[in-house]
Amino acid sequence: MDSPKIAVIGAGVVGLSVAKILQEELRGSDISVIAEQFKDDTTSAVAAGIFRPGPSFRGSTQDITKKWIKDSWHYWVNILKTAEAPQAGVTSLSSYLFSNNSHVTRNHLIEDLVPVYRPVTGEELKICGGDWKYGAYYSTVLIECKRHLPWLEAIITSNGGKMVNKRIDSLSSLRGKYDLVFNCSGMGAEKLCGDLDLVPIRGQVLKVDAPWVKTAFYGDYDTYVIPGFDGVVTLGGTRQYDSYNTEVCKHDTAAIWERCCNLVPGLKRAKVVDQKVGLRPHRTPVRVEPELVEGSKVVHCYGHGGYGVTCAPGTAIDAVKIGLDLLKTNVKYKI
Ligand SMILES: Cc1cc2nc3c(=O)[nH]c(=O)nc-3n(C[C@H](O)[C@H](O)[C@H](O)COP(=O)(O)OP(=O)(O)OC[C@H]3O[C@@H](n4cnc5c(N)ncnc54)[C@H](O)[C@@H]3O)c2cc1C
Ligand SMILES: *[C@@H]1O[C@H](CO)[C@@H](O)[C@H](O)[C@H]1NC(C)=O
Ligand SMILES: *[C@@H]1O[C@H](CO)[C@@H](O)[C@H](O)[C@H]1NC(C)=O
Repeated sequence: MDSPKIAVIGAGVVGLSVAKILQEELRGSDISVIAEQFKDDTTSAVAAGIFRPGPSFRGSTQDITKKWIKDSWHYWVNILKTAEAPQAGVTSLSSYLFSNNSHVTRNHLIEDLVPVYRPVTGEELKICGGDWKYGAYYSTVLIECKRHLPWLEAIITSNGGKMVNKRIDSLSSLRGKYDLVFNCSGMGAEKLCGDLDLVPIRGQVLKVDAPWVKTAFYGDYDTYVIPGFDGVVTLGGTRQYDSYNTEVCKHDTAAIWERCCNLVPGLKRAKVVDQKVGLRPHRTPVRVEPELVEGSKVVHCYGHGGYGVTCAPGTAIDAVKIGLDLLKTNVKYKI
């Protein structure tokens, strides 16, 4: 087939990862990334971007979940090893995780994947504010979307891809124009697909200027302090199930500030530079599958919840593979 026309709906970390991987697999393809929001306006840009999948991140089987996580890890490490890493917003990061529940400090999804994952020593238990019973220390990567999304866009456009700023209200508006469509619309898929399994988990964060913080720290009750690029540290957070409120809530601000300052008291000196709210597109399982919608070939890739930055590459690799197979078929079946 010569030069198939492909649309990717969504310019968050998932859609742009799909577009980049697709260009590598299918040279000369004609790709348009169509989205209502780009760069800093996406949910992806709210995320601190730490690689740390949690138990609510699920594929349709345990093997698929593990494969997505493993493929993602290797994808990030491959970028980390290049001179492009800072421009791509990828850096290595160490993290302490403290809790009063022993099971919280384990992470079966990454314990055997990241270079270091171990229980803390008694001395380490005392380095943060609070009287913690358990802790873990691990090394991981951080992907800051403020840098990563523009980096991806530049690569995609330099390879001939187009960025189209448009809202898509139904697939019928695209029908006949594309050989293949990727649905990477995050929370937008709820309206677009009427997918009732997709639930928003509201997250609020503060961005503070605190260049002296070099390590990530987690405490109980969704408390986290995650350093990014340029001295900006993300303080979180909230995890409000089924909340659509995208406004900053001053009570959440106060609670986040108090919890983070208790954990890392030096933050009391930090200046708040921004506050952000995002709706994590949660779905069990994450939807990565083909569908024939009114004769059009569609591959869905959405529902990454709180782990979309972490696992975008692994799911995108599968979505692209499914898409390439679909392009080869002539069938008019519904999956
Ligand atoms: C506070 C907070 C902290 C987080 N921290 C982390 C973290 O540390 N690590 C991690 O891995 N994940 C984290 N996440 C989760 C992560 O942000 C999401 O999983 C991820 O951004 C989902 O990416 P996405 O590309 O699917 O969605 P989005 O970034 O929301 O992108 C969706 C795209 O689709 C477009 N779109 C939607 N509907 C339409 C339509 N009808 N027409 C046209 N375009 C449309 C949008 O405009 C946008 O471009 C966090 C989330 C929040 C809220
Ligand atoms: C953890 O347990 C200790 C000891 O019981 C207690 O002092 C501390 O307040 C607890 N921390 C949290 C966050 O609940
Ligand atoms: C996304 O998928 C749903 C089917 O679940 C479909 O109804 C919708 O039109 C798709 N959107 C696009 C733009 O592909």
